[in-house]
Amino acid sequence: MDIRVRCLRLEPGLVLTMAAPATGTTLPPHVRPPWVPEEVTPSRQSDFVLSRTAVMAAQAIFEVGGLVVADGRRPVFPPGLRGSISHSQGRIGVCLGTDRPEVVAVGVDIERHVRLSIEGLRYVATPAERDWVLADKCPGRTLTGLFAAKEAIYKSVSALASRPPGFLDVELRPAGDRTYRVTWPADLLPAGLTLDATVTCVDDYVVAHAVVRTDRAELMPHRYPPPAKPSGISVSSTGDAFRARRAVLADDRYLGGRYPGRRIYPGAFVLDSVLRSAEAHLGKPLRIEDIPAIALTGILGPGDTLYLDAECADLPDSFQVRAACTDQSGAAVATLTVHFKPSGPAEPGA
Ligand SMILES: CC(C)(COP(=O)(O)OP(=O)(O)OC[C@H]1O[C@@H](n2cnc3c(N)ncnc32)[C@H](O)[C@@H]1OP(=O)(O)O)[C@@H](O)C(=O)NCCC(=O)NCCS
Repeated sequence: MDIRVRCLRLEPGLVLTMAAPATGTTLPPHVRPPWVPEEVTPSRQSDFVLSRTAVMAAQAIFEVGGLVVADGRRPVFPPGLRGSISHSQGRIGVCLGTDRPEVVAVGVDIERHVRLSIEGLRYVATPAERDWVLADKCPGRTLTGLFAAKEAIYKSVSALASRPPGFLDVELRPAGDRTYRVTWPADLLPAGLTLDATVTCVDDYVVAHAVVRTDRAELMPHRYPPPAKPSGISVSSTGDAFRARRAVLADDRYLGGRYPGRRIYPGAFVLDSVLRSAEAHLGKPLRIEDIPAIALTGILGPGDTLYLDAECADLPDSFQVRAACTDQSGAAVATLTVHFKPSGPAEPGA
């Protein structure tokens, strides 16, 4: 089944990717892509596939390869990218990613609009928050936004806080344009951090994101050397179509450790191959604008070769590439439809 990925640039260098079945329903249970680790239970499978597809898109947008590993339940993103994951009922998975140097951590949460009724108010809202929630013309929806914002805050601070914050530990005050000023007990977080939260409505969902920033150099994320670019790609063009070929090198450092006991070419690099080959075909730098459909149906490993056959079309304000990917034996690996725009100097995120 095809998965559609939407990319929302929330601010320069801060991108939300959202993956959902193209049909708008849940993924059929028998669809288990071969890259899903065995320990992912059937009940978690749709959430896992959708959220990791969103992660893959974020990694491709920021051109950061490498592993997303788990520290307990908390995902740890590879050097060069801070990120957070959320999913809802096997229907949608989202990833918030940033490469901004002053951002220490981010958190994201997605909830159905109808997630909370007003009865939940006293568990989620401080007395001051209750006042502005109840004053709103849709208090249930506003409470769901507050709940989602606090879940996003919880994720953003979970590696930094002295203890797990409770719902009534942090307090949000509306600051206009769906953003909130956040206050917290002095002993919760190291000094020198700021924290803001924003709630956005996307279709039937409330999406909240939280961003922890600092202007103190010693608190900024480590400056890692730029990630190595994935291995070379060759492209031959015929009119509006092109064919690309890319070897999966056995010594590629990104193959190791992604999934326990297996060396798998990351799906982000399949998407990256479409981007790089489209750039070579057009002769100019591009950025991913939208991913209307993506299906990762096979896996590549060390020594394999990725073949990509693509057709291009001009759209009113973007450029579409439809690509079918196979390995050297002709076995299907992926099909993708990706929309691109020319990349400016401030990309990604501008
Ligand atoms: C951990 C928690 C935030 C997850 O939220 P959820 O609504 O159950 O599930 P979501 O789909 O939104 O998020 C799940 C993802 O969160 C991420 N996550 C889990 N624990 C995390 C942590 N401690 N820190 C950061 N991210 C975490 C994981 O990536 C997980 O997805 P995965 O298992 O596929 O990797 C929630 O279960 C929880 O324990 N909340 C604590 C109470 C709270 O939020 N208090 C607010 C205080 S301000």
